[in-house]
Amino acid sequence: MDNQKKVALITGSNRGLGFETAKQLGEKGITVIVTGRNQGVADETAAKLKASGINAFGIQLDVTNPSDRKAAAAFINEKFGKLDILINNAGVGPKGDFFVNKAVETDEEEFQYVFGTNVFSLVYITNELLPLLKASGYARIVNLSSLLGSLGTHANPNGPFEEVKRLSYNASKTALNAVTIHLAAELKKFGIKVNSADPGHAKTDMGGAGAPMEISDGARTSVELALIGEDGPTGKFIHLGEERPW
Ligand SMILES: NC(=O)c1ccc[n+]([C@@H]2O[C@H](COP(=O)([O-])OP(=O)(O)OC[C@H]3O[C@@H](n4cnc5c(N)ncnc54)[C@H](OP(=O)(O)O)[C@@H]3O)[C@@H](O)[C@H]2O)c1
Repeated sequence: MDNQKKVALITGSNRGLGFETAKQLGEKGITVIVTGRNQGVADETAAKLKASGINAFGIQLDVTNPSDRKAAAAFINEKFGKLDILINNAGVGPKGDFFVNKAVETDEEEFQYVFGTNVFSLVYITNELLPLLKASGYARIVNLSSLLGSLGTHANPNGPFEEVKRLSYNASKTALNAVTIHLAAELKKFGIKVNSADPGHAKTDMGGAGAPMEISDGARTSVELALIGEDGPTGKFIHLGEERPW
């Protein structure tokens, strides 16, 4: 499908990888719907993109809020009648120091907060938008995962993550990967491809200033997966074109 006819929604796109993904998709001619947790932030974000010639719309979308999710679907339905690309980018880490190994001490509040955003709300917003994605005939769903969600990598005692065992976040991305595999199988018959993106470790607020990748490179995997053709993969976990171990 011609990029000029495509519409993309990028959740959590007021900053970080989400904003950059919207910018890169917009620069390719795709109409982008960007989000903020309130309308003012969404409007400011859309205005920044419009200033560089991108066709952008801003909507209020806290993914944990059912009425925001419904309103997002109603807006897209009224304006476009379909959605071609959904980037499930909104995500949170545990509050406080991310890089503290914490498994048995993780409390209920932390699990609810991290899983609530990274897993449950991702399923709910996808389900809400499913009729619009089916109406596309082309749709691509990209779920922002992390190599920290890779069980294969964590299970290796000589692997890179022996000191990075923050259970709530890591397990939320493992669960998100399961969502990817299940949705990919179920949605194949509608021509919808669903993949998990490992963006790499990028210099965002979450990734930290010491991260090795620039934000522009961190967004590349999401953009590539949003634009894969009919012969492209579905139900895979990918970083810059390379498969990651589940
Ligand atoms: N950066 C990395 O190195 C890295 C590595 C692997 C995976 N990831 C994943 O990539 C995604 C983007 O990460 P990032 O580094 O860009 O993070 P970030 O800089 O912390 O930005 C997170 C974005 O998600 C939004 N968000 C959080 N909770 C939300 C909610 N309930 N509803 C709507 N939006 C919400 C934030 O909005 P507010 O401004 O309103 O908080 C913000 O726009 C996340 O899923 C993250 O887990 C990042």
